[in-house]
Amino acid sequence: ISLNPTIIVIFGGTGDLNLRKLAPALYNLYSDGYMPEKYAIIGTARRKLTDEKFRETIMDGVNSFSRSGKVKQEKWNKFAEHVFYSPVDVEAPETFGDLKANIERHQKEFGPDTQILYYLAVAPNLFPLIAKCLSKYKLAGNEDNCRIVIEKPFGRDLETAKELNCILTSIFSEKQIYRIDHYLGKETVQNIMAFRFANSFLEPLWNRTYIDHVQISVTEQLGVGDRGGYYEGAGALRDMIQNHLLQLVCLIGMETPVNFDADEIRNKKVDVLKAMRPFGPEDIRFSTVRGQYTKGWVEGKEVPGYRHETGVAPDSNTETFAAIKFFVDNWRWQGVPFYVRTGKRLFQTSSLITIQFKDVPHHIFPSTVTEHWQQNRLIISIQPEMSIRLQVQGKRPGLDMVLNPVDMVFDYKGTYTTESPEAYETLLLDVMTGDQTQFMRADQVESAWELLMPVVNAWESKKSLSFPNYTADSWGPEDAEALIARDGFHWFTLP
Ligand code: BG6
Repeated sequence: ISLNPTIIVIFGGTGDLNLRKLAPALYNLYSDGYMPEKYAIIGTARRKLTDEKFRETIMDGVNSFSRSGKVKQEKWNKFAEHVFYSPVDVEAPETFGDLKANIERHQKEFGPDTQILYYLAVAPNLFPLIAKCLSKYKLAGNEDNCRIVIEKPFGRDLETAKELNCILTSIFSEKQIYRIDHYLGKETVQNIMAFRFANSFLEPLWNRTYIDHVQISVTEQLGVGDRGGYYEGAGALRDMIQNHLLQLVCLIGMETPVNFDADEIRNKKVDVLKAMRPFGPEDIRFSTVRGQYTKGWVEGKEVPGYRHETGVAPDSNTETFAAIKFFVDNWRWQGVPFYVRTGKRLFQTSSLITIQFKDVPHHIFPSTVTEHWQQNRLIISIQPEMSIRLQVQGKRPGLDMVLNPVDMVFDYKGTYTTESPEAYETLLLDVMTGDQTQFMRADQVESAWELLMPVVNAWESKKSLSFPNYTADSWGPEDAEALIARDGFHWFTLP
């Protein structure tokens, strides 16, 4: 790929996100030959650091967190020549002057085609401040040469998301704004579009006539760890469902785009969000479940309950688990439930999408033969296993006619020898090439909030009397099992 000279400014340069994700991603892009010929990475944060010290800091990050292990020193040295530091105190806007001088120095060296990317890896309350300072110091550029990347959370409800969109779009055009949802950069998530729209056998089956229900389950073994302060104000609904899980619903539910154009794809996703059935009070009672973990044992070690985590109130009402039954009211999906669940401190770390097909219209086999009967399932495993499985019935080898489910498996490990890039590598490259396909448009974010607001409000206004209601290392609250069991199904997991 031939890329214009690029200056990447990372706000929150010494923060966790840069050290764990952005710096390793940029270094890997460089190692794999994807960085532009001319580029500069400028880290900014409040504290005063020399370029040298900043380079050391991020090298430690890369060494600890890169998928490709420790850096190769010679390669690193070359990469590090492109890395700079400029202290900026967002609350003291005059410090933007030095940053501007730094940017202009590189611009002069790189020439008129230089593009500038601002990455806001900072607390969300700083997003508007930074955007306004960029505007004030005439650093916001234009559609062709300047982009801004915003991390989640994008607002904490519909109103704040709208406010933020309003501020951003008063300074930047929508074409310059890249709202990140890192799930969209995952290899297996990107493959959903390929699988659905590059194969002909699937489309005739991909509808209410053949599909019984859909499950999207993103479970995590870890607790909130040292993020209690942030998580207390968020909860599973805001942290995971509003963004990552609803994006997965969109990818499964969307109509076929007419081309691979960013706006065409995002239009089709918004259509799904707009078709999703709004929640009334009855739906909130019967179609949503919230949970919070209590202490338990994980791999032989006792772990604290959520209310005992650092930064968490002892009587916290924040949910660490959420399960919701959605419907998409359109011709394709009418009557097909989409069960979605996510939570922390669960039994397994796994992101799975399960499409369960309807049963055969008529059983020809006697019951002795079909003891292990299982309706066909398509299982898209996003992580940790990266695979697509089609569960079909087969005859067990032997003299008796006995059927049992078998998997036809497409497994990344067995199929490809190359390692998959990390989500942030894919997404950072997209920002550099100016491809917005895998980024959230303003209306996507707002539609997702609009859908969830009745649930957010109901959960916030009514304290859960049952919290904590699941043990660490379990599959979550019993009510979540009941939510799906009432319809005759159960949550599917991989062994
Ligand atoms: C983040 C959430 O967006 O996604 C975290 O804030 C969560 O709470 C994480 O743990 C999960 O991402 P992944 O890539 O580990 O599945």
